[in-house]
Amino acid sequence: MPRPRRNRRTPAIRAMVRETQLSPADFILPLFLHEDETDTPIESMPGVTRWSVESLVREAGEAFKLGIPAVVLFPKIEDALKTPDADECFNEEGLVPRAIRAIKAAHPGLCVITDVALDPYNSDGHDGLVQRNAAGELIILNDETIDILCQQAVCHARAGADIVAPSDMMDGRVAGIRSSLDDEGFIDVGIMSYTAKYASAFYGPFRGALDSAPKEGDKKTYQMDPANLQEAVREAMLDQAEGADILMVKPAGLYLDVIAKVRETSVLPVAAYQVSGEYLMLKSAAAGGWLNERAIVLESLIAIKRAGASMILTYFAKQAATWLADDKSHA
Ligand code: PBG
Repeated sequence: MPRPRRNRRTPAIRAMVRETQLSPADFILPLFLHEDETDTPIESMPGVTRWSVESLVREAGEAFKLGIPAVVLFPKIEDALKTPDADECFNEEGLVPRAIRAIKAAHPGLCVITDVALDPYNSDGHDGLVQRNAAGELIILNDETIDILCQQAVCHARAGADIVAPSDMMDGRVAGIRSSLDDEGFIDVGIMSYTAKYASAFYGPFRGALDSAPKEGDKKTYQMDPANLQEAVREAMLDQAEGADILMVKPAGLYLDVIAKVRETSVLPVAAYQVSGEYLMLKSAAAGGWLNERAIVLESLIAIKRAGASMILTYFAKQAATWLADDKSHA
């Protein structure tokens, strides 16, 4: 009689039949940075720190040593530098370009990814430029925003970024950024597009970390409705046609169906972002002693990989890489 349990009998057999493997090479570590010379623990994300540039370089190096191939940078910009037109985002001497240069100088082999969006720089806290229409409603301008995103992407490329990651969800930004990068000679700088980024309540702790919450309104006119799956297919087809190199789904854990669908729709590699709220949920349950941290974190990551993600942006990257290195038991 067929007995599936035979393939589960011992750790060695389970290791042989295992369909999905997790490795530090699957992880991308998101890193927060600020202008201060001291490091600040982020209250809304226990265990996560906002780094000075100097500490950021050290932290990135530690991740690289653990086998993590890439980091993605998220800056907290000083209030005095935030303006309605967000023009600090393409200042060549700004925080992010300086950080890219410092990381690249210390760890040339590490892949540096940057976030392309206006929210940390924009006094309105939106990913795009804000205007008010005759009725007094808030409008997020699409094409005008893209012009600025292109300058931001080129600025990051000039500083040495390997990949730029537009997270703004404006229409047509992948095509715009691709042609600006090419025009400036950055044909080898890749685009990791936030293809299916949902208007999720799970970004709350992140906005606390960067003080980047919208001052008014929400992001529902540009980020996707959590109820929609077909629309993710449409976004994936567009981003692929526009020249994206990697497609991202975000959040990850509650959107495994979207990851699987995007994987199936496109031939491009798929990334998934286990976001701040997902981190916080797992972390709080573990801190309360209610769930086993190592077990739930590794299970959450393997599930995201099994769904079809080739790479995972996760705040647990260093911790998970350490656990995987310790794990020789095939348990
Ligand atoms: C903003 C951006 C956000 C995140 C990454 N880039 C927040 C938002 O869209 O409001 C969220 C990441 C997280 O929650 O971990 N461009």
